[in-house]
Amino acid sequence: MADGHHTVEQKIEKLREELRHHEHLYYVEDAPVLTDAQYDELMRRLKALEEEHPELVTPDSPTQRVGGKPKDGFVKTPHSRPMLSLDNAFDEAELRAWDARVRGGLPPSETVGYVCELKLDGLSLALQYSGEANGSAHLVSGITRGDGTIGENVTTNVRTVRSIPLSISAARMKSAGVDGGFEVRGEVLLSQAAFEKLNEEREAAGLAPAANPRNAAAGTVRTLEPNIVAQRRLDFYAYFLLRDGEFLMPTQTETLSALRALGFLVNKHARTVADIDGVIEFIAGADALRDSLPYEIDGVVVKVDSTAQQRRLGFTGKAPRWAIAYKFPARAAVTLLENVTFQVGRTGKVTPVANLRPVSIGGTVVKRATLHNADEIERLGVRIGDHVSVERGGDVIPKITGVVLDKPRGEGVIEFPETCPECGTALVKVEGEVDWRCVNASCPARLREELLHFGSRGVMNIEGLGEVMVAQLLGQKLSEVVPEDSELEDAAEVVREPLVRSLADIYWLKKEQLLELERVGDKSSQALLDEIERSKTRPLAKVLLGLGIRFVGERTAELLASHFGSMDALMEATAEELTKVNEVGPKVAEGVVEFFAELRNRALVEKLREAGLTMPAEKKVTSDVLAGLTFVLTGTLPTLTREAAKEKIEAAGGRVSGSVSKKTSYVVAGEEAGSKLEKANELGVKVVDEAGLLELLEAKD
Ligand code: IVH
Repeated sequence: MADGHHTVEQKIEKLREELRHHEHLYYVEDAPVLTDAQYDELMRRLKALEEEHPELVTPDSPTQRVGGKPKDGFVKTPHSRPMLSLDNAFDEAELRAWDARVRGGLPPSETVGYVCELKLDGLSLALQYSGEANGSAHLVSGITRGDGTIGENVTTNVRTVRSIPLSISAARMKSAGVDGGFEVRGEVLLSQAAFEKLNEEREAAGLAPAANPRNAAAGTVRTLEPNIVAQRRLDFYAYFLLRDGEFLMPTQTETLSALRALGFLVNKHARTVADIDGVIEFIAGADALRDSLPYEIDGVVVKVDSTAQQRRLGFTGKAPRWAIAYKFPARAAVTLLENVTFQVGRTGKVTPVANLRPVSIGGTVVKRATLHNADEIERLGVRIGDHVSVERGGDVIPKITGVVLDKPRGEGVIEFPETCPECGTALVKVEGEVDWRCVNASCPARLREELLHFGSRGVMNIEGLGEVMVAQLLGQKLSEVVPEDSELEDAAEVVREPLVRSLADIYWLKKEQLLELERVGDKSSQALLDEIERSKTRPLAKVLLGLGIRFVGERTAELLASHFGSMDALMEATAEELTKVNEVGPKVAEGVVEFFAELRNRALVEKLREAGLTMPAEKKVTSDVLAGLTFVLTGTLPTLTREAAKEKIEAAGGRVSGSVSKKTSYVVAGEEAGSKLEKANELGVKVVDEAGLLELLEAKD
């Protein structure tokens, strides 16, 4: 506020507290109250203040979620107590046998309660917090499991995980009954949604998709570019609370409540049960729940509730006797491989797709599975007509894991095409890469995927630019587009001149042209044209994302847009300048430089500009002197244009509105101010001239 009552330190601390509070609501409680834009705004203000006062930056500030880069890889670090694995049980009988062993290991007079937790399919992580004199605590390090005794220090990456608190207030510590430093162990994982997004980006960048969320999470945690880690949105679920290698709480149930009170994300499905029957009931429930969860689980972990009993039960070689992992049966089935088609993606990558005799796996009918690439076909030794085992994890694209050798073998050798199945151009394979690509930049298949990506919701958001429309714009006949499921798998013959030959061409579409397409009427063609028109003002970040630059995902696009402020500035940036942007590493920089080095891409940007795309960069808020204040501009100011005045006010955190009300803080009046000035006088709203506005802008504490 501009009232001068708060010191910069106080303002900064207040913003930090607010941000921490909202991060907790968002990432832990899953109950956000701010919109993303409001959250970003708070973050921007804090960043601006910290930039002005670098001496006030502390490592636990929410701006420091992404700090420096780990310089020389990861440092090996021993654990306070080994991170063991668990013994597995695969059915009820094995569980009951384990329960009998547990009870047999304790005096018969004792009852044994259990805690059932979902077995999250990620990787385990140990976090060290140190206690402060004022009763609070802060994150010191995050270490992977490694070999169980020694892990890798991945603190820089861990700090980007929003559900891991960087600091914990004295109040939270008190309510959790924790005093001093401690260690938290839990599972770090990628949600299904984050995993799918990652794979889309990998494919766009010409990389092989990650096999499953677990591998992707493991790779992410060990990535040397924290910006990439931050983009991937890892989650962390806490399940152990220790100090000096010993559990802090007398029961696992209390451990989970204490972790919750400390502000950690604790899986909400965990339950305390009285006996093994309760465990078995829990498992049935978890199995039913499995498909609707936003992350993958591969079973249920059962733990003896009492810490004292755990201690007495102890360990066998590598696993505790007091816990067991019940593993769900793998979700796989055997079916016939009927044939293989080849799909061309946005980057020209050709992917072999197995068409299967439909088979139900865990309640979902699977008709297709990916074969990834030519190497994979060879590795599997698979032929058309073979019986293959197909695995499905969550919503991941099903994959073929092997050939069933004791069934009659198929005869059909799978021939990887030498030319693009869509445009006939000879396929190319780059040394050291596994993928074959169509390098024809105007291959209709590539253009199709580019258009679909460009128009999609989080990108240019052009409703109506779906598969059927895109195919028609590219010259296909509708009858060739719609059969079966609308995946357009077999290349449809081009039956008319394409209306679109590059992304930018959509901005020159005419209604008459659209009306000639099948099943396109007056209304739908106008709706599409309106949508296309509207997309012209999409922000720079979205245009960047839409261009499909390698390694430039949503967050990177935003960082680049707000740092460079314009397409021109970004196009001229060198790799060195790019890596100076906080969170941008060499890979991203190379992707951007390579993209704009290509004349074709520069021409595309030019054409988009010609089409009328404004590519506005989000306004930068550089101070908060006018935060919370609303201005109305009226009349002609002596030196500032209306736009410039607006920009200045917004950059200082203020708002500009079009009409005067009691809520207006100031009316800025220039020459020939009319009714708005009158209204301001009527309502007693303060009126200033340009000089007055400039004074307000300078009125820092
Ligand atoms: S307890 C000695 N609880 O499963 C205690 N582990 O198969 C072992 N996991 O390495 C950890 N969810 O990565 C525990 N709720 C949970 C878990 C869990 C997933 C993983 C963890 C562990 C592996 C053991």
